[in-house]
Amino acid sequence: MRLEEVSDLKPSPKQVVVRVKAAGVNPVDMYIRSGTYSRKPALPYTPGTDAAGVVESVGEGITHVAVGTRVYTSGTINGAYAEQALCEESQVHSLPRQISYSQGAAVNTPYAAAYRALYQRAHAVSGETVLVHGATGGVGIAAVQLARAAGMRVIGTGGSARGRDLASQQGAHHVLDHGTPDYLDQVLALTEGRGVDVILEMLANVNLGRDLRLLALGGRVVVIGSRGRVEIDPRDAMNRDAAILGMLLLNTPEREAASIHAALIAGLENGTLRPVVREEMPLADAARAHHAVMQPGAYGKIVLIP
Ligand SMILES: NC(=O)c1ccc[n+]([C@@H]2O[C@H](COP(=O)([O-])OP(=O)(O)OC[C@H]3O[C@@H](n4cnc5c(N)ncnc54)[C@H](OP(=O)(O)O)[C@@H]3O)[C@@H](O)[C@H]2O)c1
Repeated sequence: MRLEEVSDLKPSPKQVVVRVKAAGVNPVDMYIRSGTYSRKPALPYTPGTDAAGVVESVGEGITHVAVGTRVYTSGTINGAYAEQALCEESQVHSLPRQISYSQGAAVNTPYAAAYRALYQRAHAVSGETVLVHGATGGVGIAAVQLARAAGMRVIGTGGSARGRDLASQQGAHHVLDHGTPDYLDQVLALTEGRGVDVILEMLANVNLGRDLRLLALGGRVVVIGSRGRVEIDPRDAMNRDAAILGMLLLNTPEREAASIHAALIAGLENGTLRPVVREEMPLADAARAHHAVMQPGAYGKIVLIP
């Protein structure tokens, strides 16, 4: 990746140009850039979907935001790792005052994924026990905050002491070390052997087989992240009437996406959702950010500042 000067962007009807103040770095940006993802953009391209900034210009027919509105994006037409991002009408959402631009760049992919997994896929309800398997990164912290605010019992996992402390500060009732051999026994012990109702899984290729043995009767596991293949025993699902649910944010129908962003904005406004920014890097360091996002020891989000 390298920086290039390009012409200013101009919105067509129903489009918005955002002056980017911060862009979020997600693992999927790395998969796409390295060519390992199913979607391969035509080259050259500008990476990134998540930005926060100020509306700079609007095309004909845009009424829900005006020039000067603080916004975050849920996708762009031509990339978010830039000084300007061109967006469709539905990709621009107002950013509450108390949320910084760097935090705003940490909203879309992590929070929308966590929300969709928890509510639109697992249909989790207050009072249930949720295991956030990988609670220290962008999606995990979002899931912990969402589940805790809704009155669920939250068990998180993390690989570093610093990350586990963060998950605990963000609302997890218990945080376990997914680097220790017996931590899954502790999940069962914490639920008196009953198991958990919902698992939000960040690394299914490592954990899915064992996740099925942690579920309570009627339990659901949502596969959010996976980096390879895994063997499962289907009988573990049978015995529990359990469901394995896939989730890809890109598949979200427009109405459900609108519902997700309405809920996220409400949570940002009322203070239950507080994106955690681990590091701000200059836009010119995007390559370094792509290496950093794949390292263990997650601690919220990395954002790029143009
Ligand atoms: N399906 C979708 O639409 C969608 C949307 C967003 C993200 N994702 C995927 O979901 C995953 C998480 O995204 P993210 O943005 O949160 O990434 P991230 O910020 O890099 O965090 C990665 C998380 O995975 C955890 N992890 C590492 N080893 C683990 C293990 N053995 N068991 C459980 N968790 C483990 C990390 O914990 P430690 O670093 O503390 O060990 C960290 O909490 C990625 O694979 C991403 O591509 C998918």
